[in-house]
Amino acid sequence: MMASLMSKPRGAQTIPVSFIVNGKAYELEVEPHELLLDVIRDRLGLTGAKRSCDVEVCGACTLLLDGRPVSACTLPAFEARGRQVQTIEGLAENGKLHPLQQAFIEHGGFQCGFCTPGMILAAKAMLEENPDPTEEQIKHFMHGNICRCTGYKKIIESILAAAKKMRAPLSAKRKS
Ligand code: FES
Ligand code: FES
Repeated sequence: MMASLMSKPRGAQTIPVSFIVNGKAYELEVEPHELLLDVIRDRLGLTGAKRSCDVEVCGACTLLLDGRPVSACTLPAFEARGRQVQTIEGLAENGKLHPLQQAFIEHGGFQCGFCTPGMILAAKAMLEENPDPTEEQIKHFMHGNICRCTGYKKIIESILAAAKKMRAPLSAKRKS
């Protein structure tokens, strides 16, 4: 069922936007300057993505748009028209955490709620492209996701562990 979030337009001009967020269809009216991060957080109530630097530097606002990481802090919401958006809230399936979420918990990559959602979503996009990354490749891909307080060692270990786990069903299939 299509959820309708036709909010009262605040300005004269609004743009109709239909998109899918975490598998659910939405229709909204957005103002031209309205940012995807604000729509997702304030109108859809999905607050996993955070606003931090506000200038595409830190990755705290990372969302996946058609599977690719984007900085939602600068992206106009209308750019998401007709596209698939994924937020951290949509990652667990049937109450089961995604292997990346599980690995971040088990290997200490889950450090704070500000950087972690973006880290996990960026890592998911990377592993879909490259299921067996080296440490260097992880560092390179994840350079847009910044942690200001601790370090990246545990995050990299978590991603390597998740990659291994996610490859396991693939190699089992190849053997059979
Ligand atoms: S808040 Fe968007 S990149 Fe920092
Ligand atoms: S910013 Fe999240 S742990 Fe450093």
